[in-house]
Amino acid sequence: MPGYREMFDASIDDPCAFWARAAEAVTWTRAPRRILDDSNPPFYRWFPDGELNTCANALDRHVDGGRGDQAALIYDSPLTGTKRTYTYRQLLDETARFAGVLRGLGVEKGDRVVVYLPMVPEALIAMLACARLGAVHSVVFGGFAAHELAARIDDARPAVLVTASCGIEPTRIVDYKMIVDGALHLADHDTPACVVLQREQHPCHLTPGRDVSWTEAMADAEPVDPVPVAATDPLYVLYTSGTTGKPKGIVRDNGGHAVALLWTMKHIYDTEPGDVYWAASDVGWVVGHSYIVYGPLLLGATTVLYEGKPVGTPDAGAFWRVAAEHGVKALFSAPTAVRAIKKVDPDGALLADYDLSALKYLFQAGERLDPSTYHWAAEKLGIPVVDHWWQTETGWSIAAAPMGVEAMAVKPGSATVPMPGYDVRVLRPDGTECDPGEEGSICVKLPLPPGTLPTLWGDDERYVASYLSAFPGYYLSGDGGYLDEDGYLFVMGRTDDVINVAGHRLSTGSIEAVLATHPAVAECAVIGAADELKGQVPRGFVVLKSGASADGLVDELVLAVRENIGAVAALKRVDVVAALPKTRSGKILRKTMRGIADGREEPVPSTIEDAGVLDALAPILRS
Ligand code: COA
Ligand code: AMP
Repeated sequence: MPGYREMFDASIDDPCAFWARAAEAVTWTRAPRRILDDSNPPFYRWFPDGELNTCANALDRHVDGGRGDQAALIYDSPLTGTKRTYTYRQLLDETARFAGVLRGLGVEKGDRVVVYLPMVPEALIAMLACARLGAVHSVVFGGFAAHELAARIDDARPAVLVTASCGIEPTRIVDYKMIVDGALHLADHDTPACVVLQREQHPCHLTPGRDVSWTEAMADAEPVDPVPVAATDPLYVLYTSGTTGKPKGIVRDNGGHAVALLWTMKHIYDTEPGDVYWAASDVGWVVGHSYIVYGPLLLGATTVLYEGKPVGTPDAGAFWRVAAEHGVKALFSAPTAVRAIKKVDPDGALLADYDLSALKYLFQAGERLDPSTYHWAAEKLGIPVVDHWWQTETGWSIAAAPMGVEAMAVKPGSATVPMPGYDVRVLRPDGTECDPGEEGSICVKLPLPPGTLPTLWGDDERYVASYLSAFPGYYLSGDGGYLDEDGYLFVMGRTDDVINVAGHRLSTGSIEAVLATHPAVAECAVIGAADELKGQVPRGFVVLKSGASADGLVDELVLAVRENIGAVAALKRVDVVAALPKTRSGKILRKTMRGIADGREEPVPSTIEDAGVLDALAPILRS
């Protein structure tokens, strides 16, 4: 196999040859003859005349190829005390029958299905069943509240919603059904049917005429065969936070996605069919889509679905227990999870209780892997700890160390090097390229490689405006950073108003929108402030309307954010202030506020309207 440099250069010099070769790993119902349609820039489509079914690639072909009795999915749930293994044959059987349930409810190719489920096997089964029908799933993370779910329902306009009676958090039961009922009430779109998984921990009432029980529907469901779809047809829409309160519907196509994920499993994660792979994320995030569900199953590996936390379920040895018990070869988590373990078990004493000889790699993403967490994990585990950088938009790594290609030297704090097809450039505001070591906007020269977003759901204009307009010919990642002399990429943080709280991506704009609706609030700002455990946490600042009282206000605002966005927003602190610092044109100086809150020396912008406002706010920001 060629080394990294040769491989990367080949992908940039002749992308069609590179991805045509990678596409041979997919089972097509009609193999693509055209590799890239670049006739309509800035829109690019991969494998435009190819046809396949993603579910058949993830399940049927492994059963047909002799893996029917191999474990496909290991469900390990310390929160319910359950462990269950599904072979490929069992997972195929359940999926084909659930596809029958969906079809019975009228779901056809191209229809959308919203999936609002906790970390249970039925979440994977529902996603794969949609793929089997050529329907488009849209999974919504369980930590989001009714209002956020309603916004996604109105954008995706589903034919069916699949949910459960409850989710289980360490300290409480989350009443999913109540949230769903609230969301369906708030939404303008009328969702005709809901499939509800009753969980014994908290069964729920089913709404007659709309809700059907998962178990009852499955009892007499007929299995259905995979429906071939165009490579360019959408497999899913996954909503993510943008800079405004309105979430962006990231579209993933079928063909490019299958090709790219299969390529990553071997080349980045060094994983082979039959290996055990565990992404300790949630199916509601892109990491869950790509590496709990599709990547490992497309390859014929065994995926682990963990319904628990890194600490407290029952202790900080939980990750090591799961890895040892199931023989995990590659573990993938967010750095915040490692920080949580390190905080409780700083010496890594609990590692000694487990045989981790099968564990070869720890992959990290979702936020920057800070050097101190890197050193701790590398020292305690004694295996490669690999930071890699990507986004919901790209679906797989823009930068990584390709462990299946070459063991590259790691530089703590760097996500290592650009992956094939990603022609990464760091640009100055005027569009010229930064010198090595100089920070700028991290961009990728078009076209992006297969598997990345072709557009936003139903909104080509917003796609172009959000990502392709700042620097024509380039994709704007929204992250800032630099390339060093050796071509290593250092991703230093967002350049916009997106924040990252415990690996969860949130928009300060949507939190501000909630604060602003309180009758006592005249204006407000939300910034992401550095936090030792969660990476960042939101902090709110509100200015009162004249005559309004601050009594009880902070509690009301915290509750409003929890009820409107969800507990994951984790807004705990709001300060009532006399005024917010602004430019003369009225723009709130959030970046300056963030810098001061993080303890940096921030220059006062020359455009500031009243420097005294910033002086008065600085001690509050630093406190
Ligand atoms: N459904 C409902 N509520 C959820 C939820 C879900 N799926 N996930 C989290 N929440 C709730 C939590 O119960 C908590 O509620 P609380 O305020 O009542 O306690 C709140 O959202 C905040 O949760 P979280 O951000 O998880 O913080 P925490 O303090 O409970 O735990 C960590 C901290 C670091 C242990 C935890 O954030 C973690 O495991 N992070 C890893 C995240 C991850 O894997 N992200 C994927 C990116 S790769
Ligand atoms: P999401 O779309 O939820 O996966 O969040 C993507 C954002 O998380 C990126 O734009 C980055 O800001 C951040 N991120 C993810 N992985 C990394 C990483 N390895 N290093 C730095 N930032 C990261």
